Amino acid sequence: MDKLVICGGNRLEGTIPISGAKNAALTLIPCALLTEEPVTLRNLPRLADIDGFQHLMNQFGVTTVIQGTRPQDFGRVMSLEAPRITSSVAPYDLVRKMRASILVLGPMLARMGEATVSMPGGCAIGNRPIDLHLKALEAFGARIELAQGYVKAMAPDGGLPGGDFDFPVVSVGATENAVMAAVLASGTCRLFNAAREPEIVDLCNLLSAMGAEIEGIGTSDLTIHGVRRLHGATYRVMADRIEAGSYACAAAITGGEVFLDGARADEMHATLTALRLIGVEIEERRGGIAVHADGPLKATDLTTAPYPGFATDMQAQMMALLCRAEGTSVLKETIFENRYMHVPELRRMGADIATEGRTAIVKGVARMTGAEVMATDLRASFSLVIAGLAAEGETVVRRLYHLDRGYERLEEKLQLVGADIERVADD
Ligand code: UD1
Repeated sequence: MDKLVICGGNRLEGTIPISGAKNAALTLIPCALLTEEPVTLRNLPRLADIDGFQHLMNQFGVTTVIQGTRPQDFGRVMSLEAPRITSSVAPYDLVRKMRASILVLGPMLARMGEATVSMPGGCAIGNRPIDLHLKALEAFGARIELAQGYVKAMAPDGGLPGGDFDFPVVSVGATENAVMAAVLASGTCRLFNAAREPEIVDLCNLLSAMGAEIEGIGTSDLTIHGVRRLHGATYRVMADRIEAGSYACAAAITGGEVFLDGARADEMHATLTALRLIGVEIEERRGGIAVHADGPLKATDLTTAPYPGFATDMQAQMMALLCRAEGTSVLKETIFENRYMHVPELRRMGADIATEGRTAIVKGVARMTGAEVMATDLRASFSLVIAGLAAEGETVVRRLYHLDRGYERLEEKLQLVGADIERVADD
């Protein structure tokens, strides 16, 4: 397995191309199950999770064609075509490796009238139940059975009749599954307190391009009038706001100046506000965002919340940055119960962080030192890269498969702006 070796201290300077959003791609790909016609997605990031999802789609009989992209390009174009679906079962082995597989439940139910998906189980950052996915589908008229670790969802003959569902807790995945199930319903489905992350707007925009009738896009109340059939579409995946925020933190901790090419400021308001409070200059330019940090970094308090609040997926990276800020920062994680796994590793690099339940108190330190570290999830792993870029000496980050799930060729992107970082085989 590979590892990353980082020699800290280089100031990052230059342009970083931002890839298509992983979390958007993972909900756009299963939309291909909703139509017999081809769905072509442009700007798909090249990531292990996307390859895994492609494999899952192939298991259902969906053909996938990657269109001519050169190896040196970031991103690629994939056409997915599902004239006939050959299986409606997502097996344990695939779902276990990739939680997002649960997102086939809604579209498969809509297209086939039934779907069987393995229950994903817990993961490194918490229990992550799927009760809300199932309750929303039930509210639209689905029958749900649980047996042998699998969920089976069934629609009455003629499709889901429709109905209303009010989310007691905002859930991105449950909103996505509900929307994808609703678009082919025989009646109208309404969602209240739905998630309104930009990735959900991206999903609704693709579905609208396929002929779906969705009202309230971008708000927490969605009304979906079912249509008899959807057609194919070509669609460009939105820029990855979490990847962009991660590189902004990386540049800031080195006192650097980078242009995040393709990033969209209007989708990153909470992250950019946090960076400004920390003392980082942010400028929205045509085609991207300029990040400049040459003054001292200042402590700030952050609490994670559903969009438009501060994203839980930015918490670890921002914490790494705050390790080097002057003063004491208080972070609160309200979305997941176990999302501080990076803390002991950052401490090994000299950070001063105390946690109590869902609160982390970060006292800024003047220097951090390189160490051998590893993390158990994607964003936590990136926070170690950020710390490594500013630490004295060498940092070795292991368990790279987490980073490969979510950051397209990150060492190449960091090398482009002058980081001393290398991927080497770990023996
Ligand atoms: C998605 C993102 C993930 C991000 C998260 C929160 C993808 C592939 N993943 O995950 O990167 O960190 O949103 O922004 O897009 N919950 C329930 N019951 C449910 C579903 C969720 O109680 O049925 C709870 C969860 O345990 C969690 C909270 O709701 O505490 C939010 O989770 P959710 O928004 O569903 O996260 P995901 O969609 O899994």
